[in-house]
Amino acid sequence: MEKIIVEGGKRLEGEIAVSGAKNAVLPLMAACILAHGECTLNNVPDLADVRTMAKLLQIMGAKIEFENGRMSIDSSSMNSWEAPYDLVKTMRASVLVLGPLTARFGKARVSLPGGCAIGERPIDQHLKGLAILGASIEIEEGYVEAVAPVLKGGIIPFDISTVTGTENLILSAALAEGETILLNAACEPEVSDLANALNQMGADIKGIGTDIITISGVKELSPLRDYDVMPDRIEAGTYMIAAAITRGDLLVRNCKFENMGALIGKLIEIGVRVTRESDGIRISSDGQIKSIDITTLPYPGFPTDMQAQMMTLMSTADGLSVLTETIFPQRFLHAGELRRMGADIKLVGNSAVVRGVHALSGAPTMASDLRASASLVLAALAATGKTEISRVYHLDRGYDKLDRKLETLGASIWREKE
Ligand code: EPU
Repeated sequence: MEKIIVEGGKRLEGEIAVSGAKNAVLPLMAACILAHGECTLNNVPDLADVRTMAKLLQIMGAKIEFENGRMSIDSSSMNSWEAPYDLVKTMRASVLVLGPLTARFGKARVSLPGGCAIGERPIDQHLKGLAILGASIEIEEGYVEAVAPVLKGGIIPFDISTVTGTENLILSAALAEGETILLNAACEPEVSDLANALNQMGADIKGIGTDIITISGVKELSPLRDYDVMPDRIEAGTYMIAAAITRGDLLVRNCKFENMGALIGKLIEIGVRVTRESDGIRISSDGQIKSIDITTLPYPGFPTDMQAQMMTLMSTADGLSVLTETIFPQRFLHAGELRRMGADIKLVGNSAVVRGVHALSGAPTMASDLRASASLVLAALAATGKTEISRVYHLDRGYDKLDRKLETLGASIWREKE
């Protein structure tokens, strides 16, 4: 295992290119189950989760090649419909194969994801939707077993906005007989990226980007060719906060301004300079950060995946801020680690009350999940002295070479064996 060490206090400056989005590429890879023939994806980030999804498809018989950001997936030879516990337990997003496997093979056996560091995370809405499309669902020995010789379109009212739930049902309905209407569908840009890719494969999906998505089932889909995975808005947001917290000046390239409204709005309100440039978003700060209250919400609201990073920034702001988590009410494991670095944070129910402190100080810390790791790296960049972040494998699940990219911007950051 490795740990990351950061000598804090360096101002970040320069340009950084954002990689493809983790939460877009995973459903796109699952979509390749639906087509016979070679699919190709570009701008694929080099992440542990991408490799886990590749492994999952490979053990079910798919042929995959991955080099220099380009991935080819040929699922013609797939001959299994089982996603085993060993892989699903390392990555919850494995559940994204449930819909496509049922659509392709008429059956699927997918290990039920267990508990998770950021909360309970049930998949009842995925299962409810599949049942509406005609699948019989059983839970046996820790596995979801779905059987549906034929999937038939239907109206699926989601009780809660769910990103992977919406994606799983779009994937299931693309090849179903007749029309499926998703009500209260998730509007996240990653959902739209998947729907656009499926349309490129020959699917008929309307209402993309809205909360009512209509899918008219088609008989078959052709392979996805040369599809560019959308940029990672959470990676981009993490660099923006890195610029703000180090009084830096960064041009964050290859990101979409229009997907990041909630974060950009908050950064401007707290005194960070944000400008849209032809080749990216420029962020600069003189270090005077005002406090602000934030509530996480489904898109286009403030993303839960930026809550931990924002908590770090608020820990160094002037005044008191309240961060309220409505998506994953227990997603606060990073608060305890930030406190070890001198942050003043109190948890009250699903809110964190953060009083800005004069300075954070380096300390040995431990990452608990992906975004928590990022919040600790940000704190370490701003802190005086040296910070060690152990369990860095969490970071590698979703950030493409974060430490090396930060180093090019002037951070003093390196890895050591634990
Ligand atoms: N929920 C249910 N039942 C369901 C599905 C969801 O109650 O059947 C609840 C969840 O417990 C949560 C809320 O609905 O309270 C929203 O969860 P959602 O299903 O939208 O989350 P997800 O699809 O499991 C994706 C991202 C997460 C991101 C969330 C919210 C992927 C692979 N993962 O998870 O990303 O936090 O949406 O935006 O797309 C991350 O990248 O660090 C990460 C955790």
